[in-house]
Amino acid sequence: MERGRAAVFGTGQLGRVMAERFAAAGYSVAALSRTAPAGLGAGIEAVAADLSTPEGVEATCRRLLEEPLDVLLVTAGAYAGGRRIEETSSEELERLFWVNARLPFYVLHHLLPEIRARQGSAILIGALGALAPKARQVSYNASKAALHSIVQTAAQELQGTGATVNALLPLTVDTPANRASMPQRDPREFVSPERLADLALFLCSPAGRDVSGALIPVRGGA
Ligand SMILES: NC(=O)c1ccc[n+]([C@@H]2O[C@H](COP(=O)([O-])OP(=O)(O)OC[C@H]3O[C@@H](n4cnc5c(N)ncnc54)[C@H](OP(=O)(O)O)[C@@H]3O)[C@@H](O)[C@H]2O)c1
Repeated sequence: MERGRAAVFGTGQLGRVMAERFAAAGYSVAALSRTAPAGLGAGIEAVAADLSTPEGVEATCRRLLEEPLDVLLVTAGAYAGGRRIEETSSEELERLFWVNARLPFYVLHHLLPEIRARQGSAILIGALGALAPKARQVSYNASKAALHSIVQTAAQELQGTGATVNALLPLTVDTPANRASMPQRDPREFVSPERLADLALFLCSPAGRDVSGALIPVRGGA
């Protein structure tokens, strides 16, 4: 069943699963990354895009809008930690603010009018950790908090239009990198990327249409 067209920004661990799950659910999916992702399944168009500058994001969004767009999934993001504020470099701060806050802002800036017009859905990936900031990860905490604020602002601006915007806030996602860096943890405690994608699908379904502006905590540990 054709469900519409979805764009996935970022094809890391979660982005790939999102793209595959939405394609399996009947969406036509464009998966965008700085390098064209290989090995994605049927129904997914892999697109190499300049996601490193505001001009590059604008050009990418213009190309995307050559066809109608119903769903926007922003999964690009990065983590940095281990240093106190006085040890944190401006390079780290700028890098995390770019990918966690400014890139999502520019994507919404260019694509929200289309999502509004088509009564579609935008889903972004925040971080549960940023709701209760821990020490030694200021760039991550602050940039994800900015993203949360952008999502809630966008929801206010979409109110009454039939379009929705939400953020999923996972704790620790079950990825090979997290399994390798936390060998003492039981991976079943982590958040399943497949269930995160299914949550996103729910938000895009008729049953999810009344939910907007939510920062949804996803702790895992089932
Ligand atoms: N993994 C976790 O435990 C966890 C926990 C809480 C929240 N999250 C959030 O969940 C989302 C997905 O995480 P993940 O585990 O799938 O991460 P991942 O595998 O590291 O993938 C990150 C994605 O972000 C893109 N990216 C990184 N830096 C970028 C930059 N400067 N400009 C443009 N794109 C950039 C990467 O693009 P390239 O492919 O081009 O490198 C990649 O597609 C992220 O927003 C992350 O912050 C993850």
